[in-house]
Amino acid sequence: MEVKAAIRGRRSIRDFRPEPVPRELLETILQAAIHAPSNSNRQPWEYLVITGARLEELKSALAQAMKQGVSPGRELKTWDEAWPMPAEGNRRAGELMAGLVESAGKAGIKPAEFVSGNFRFFNAPCVILVLMDKGYGYGALVSVGAGIENLLLCAYDLGLGSCWMMMPLQYGEVFRRRFGAPESSYLVSVIALGYPTDSEINRFKSSRDSLEKVAKYYP
Ligand SMILES: Cc1cc2nc3c(=O)[nH]c(=O)nc-3n(C[C@H](O)[C@H](O)[C@H](O)COP(=O)(O)O)c2cc1C
Repeated sequence: MEVKAAIRGRRSIRDFRPEPVPRELLETILQAAIHAPSNSNRQPWEYLVITGARLEELKSALAQAMKQGVSPGRELKTWDEAWPMPAEGNRRAGELMAGLVESAGKAGIKPAEFVSGNFRFFNAPCVILVLMDKGYGYGALVSVGAGIENLLLCAYDLGLGSCWMMMPLQYGEVFRRRFGAPESSYLVSVIALGYPTDSEINRFKSSRDSLEKVAKYYP
């Protein structure tokens, strides 16, 4: 597939079929991830692939943590206490949420159920936990993001669906304890991976503001 077609065709998938992702495809996807550029070629990423019984156990532990209502919050925040969130960002997030709730409704999924689906990774048979040693410095998270995007595009090219996620990391300790992720590493993201169902929720396509709003040419 052409790169441009993959970039425009990929979308977040939020309902998966149970079939496992073949190991060979996982290797191809992870190879794509590690071929991303990184600052000083330090390759700061680490990928933990979680499937089968380990994934089921993780989902049970997350459900338990949710029941107890203990959410220490995410370590990597996508907001900043010192600086206000740009209104445009809030508008775009609001539009996303409205669109997702509408699609979920069409698929017969209630909003609360949709939110809790995040903690089951939308039934994906495979979850990739992405880590980065804090010693690389938080600026290196940019490089990790490049790796993740490669991974998503490669997965799409192979006919797989994916959802880049941070919400489940609200319960970071649940992940750390199980997968030996030390405090000295950032839990960067989790990627839900698998074959998409034909649910309405997977037909949802997020919008983008026009290029004129975000790009400038000099001169
Ligand atoms: C860092 C990051 C965290 C995200 N976390 C979640 C998440 O927890 N749950 C979810 O459903 N989508 C999550 N997303 C997916 C975004 O909502 C999605 O990428 C955005 O709406 C654009 O839609 P698209 O991926 O379909 O192009 C996340 C995306 C990124 C990049």
